[in-house]
Amino acid sequence: MTVEKVMVVGAGQMGSGIAQVCAQAGYKVLLNDLKLEFVERGLRVINKNLTRNVDKGRLTEEQKQAVLNNLTPSIDLQDASEVDLVIEAAVENMEIKAKIFAQLDEIAPEHTILASNTSSLPITEIAAVTKRPEKVIGMHFMNPVPVMKLVEIIRGLATADEVYQVIEDMTKTLNKVPVEVNDFPGFVANRVLMPMINEAIYTLYEGVATKEAIDEVMKLGMNHPMGPLTLADFIGLDTCLYIMETLHDGFGDDKYRPCPLLRKYVKAGWLGKKTGRGFYVYE
Ligand code: CAA
Repeated sequence: MTVEKVMVVGAGQMGSGIAQVCAQAGYKVLLNDLKLEFVERGLRVINKNLTRNVDKGRLTEEQKQAVLNNLTPSIDLQDASEVDLVIEAAVENMEIKAKIFAQLDEIAPEHTILASNTSSLPITEIAAVTKRPEKVIGMHFMNPVPVMKLVEIIRGLATADEVYQVIEDMTKTLNKVPVEVNDFPGFVANRVLMPMINEAIYTLYEGVATKEAIDEVMKLGMNHPMGPLTLADFIGLDTCLYIMETLHDGFGDDKYRPCPLLRKYVKAGWLGKKTGRGFYVYE
């Protein structure tokens, strides 16, 4: 089982980053989304990132062109009939993911591995909608994908050892570090990160300190690159809430209860950097 052609489903922040690192590693990549304008937006972000690398002397113009040549837009899931690996990075919604995986299972060749970049939804449940649960796996990239070294590789209940190995090896070719994790709510990254962010929001909610003070404590005191409230804005407050709800539902433990202030911000449409306002205001 070798991977040469990859399809990335979803050309948003995560999908475009995944497509970029795959194309940079020499894979032929189909970047798929529902509409061409979404794919084109993803390609523009990739172009901008590559141009910055050229400007900084880390990439030649020829190398940039070679990466761009590895990328092909797609607005039809039928294109999965040509690929060895699909990495799904669509919205975090079980119904939507189930629909996509059921379709991909029908379309993709028998050998094709179906991976999900889900940040907390159960891989085992996604796999169960397919007739190839042994070839379904989680590949959880971190944001911003081109910068962050980690990929959590999540084994579903039925994921075959051989499939795990192919994905671990492929991840290394992306110049990323794979870490093996079992399928439980939030895996490791978000099970540890999100309660910390949620607690930071409770700290603000209870008036313990200002948002700036909370972020400063965690940045300077714990050497985190961003304070937790800045990071929450960066990830998206809707995503943070969704992950907290997944942890709360999955474990049924009150310690994962989303902070009411987080719910309020999401209801207000203050979703963080992407909407121009979250805990902070962005120009
Ligand atoms: N795309 C591509 N490159 C980016 C980028 C992006 N969106 N954002 C920053 N970069 C690059 C910059 O170009 C810069 O590269 P060079 O040094 O090579 O020029 C480098 O990253 C550093 O950027 P900056 O100097 O502008 O800023 P910084 O030093 O503060 O770093 C950061 C930015 C890498 C985002 C850093 O603040 C950081 O590591 N933050 C924490 C990120 C984090 O925790 N991510 C995980 C989120 S959780 C998650 O993803 C899981 C989930 O399921 C929710």
